[in-house]
Amino acid sequence: MLLHVPNVLTGEQVADCRRQLEAADWVDGRVTAGHQSATAKDNGQLPEHSPVARELGQMILSALDRNPLFLAGALPLKIFPPLFNRYSGGQSFGNHVDNAVRQVRTAAPNAKTWVRTDISATLFLAAPSEYDGGELMIDDTYGSHSVKLPAGDLVLYPSTSLHRVQPVTRGARIASFFWIQSMVRDDGQRTLLLDLDLAIQRLGADVKGHPALVQLTGVYHNLLRRWADAS
Ligand code: NI
Repeated sequence: MLLHVPNVLTGEQVADCRRQLEAADWVDGRVTAGHQSATAKDNGQLPEHSPVARELGQMILSALDRNPLFLAGALPLKIFPPLFNRYSGGQSFGNHVDNAVRQVRTAAPNAKTWVRTDISATLFLAAPSEYDGGELMIDDTYGSHSVKLPAGDLVLYPSTSLHRVQPVTRGARIASFFWIQSMVRDDGQRTLLLDLDLAIQRLGADVKGHPALVQLTGVYHNLLRRWADAS
């Protein structure tokens, strides 16, 4: 499932991110790339543990925590701390599939935890009018999808997907990117749950109080109970 989540950040929050990112020190994006993707990747990135990345990452995580569409679509168990990248001057990222697991270093010394990457996320921080190119191209069984969203909007897609970022030929494409380990590992099951959830919400708005809504909500939770792994 390819899911567009609009307005994760407000205009003010995007402007605040941009101000802080402008003043930050960027490094070669290959620092977080795996073996194969290092050869395909050409962009700038904020160092993972830079104070700016941490502060803005926290702001994004709290915005996600309040976003019903994100929560319903991702059913997040763990979220990798958001990273930030920038493409300009013809930079691009060729075809690759994201690493299956990623290690997160926690505050405690030598403590490490793993995140399985079920869902990949890109949060756009530059408006489409600010740059040419830079489309996120995601392949699935229905073909190739081109994604270029307003600043503050998020796209979620299965981490199993082959994807790439087209060369940026004018301006700069600035974004945050991260991965989610979902309580429901399978993309097909997550898609069914979101469809059911959204249908129940629509029915609830149109035919308030219908007893079938209780039944359908029960079905939703019983499917989630069957499929979720919350540990
Ligand atoms: Ni990627």
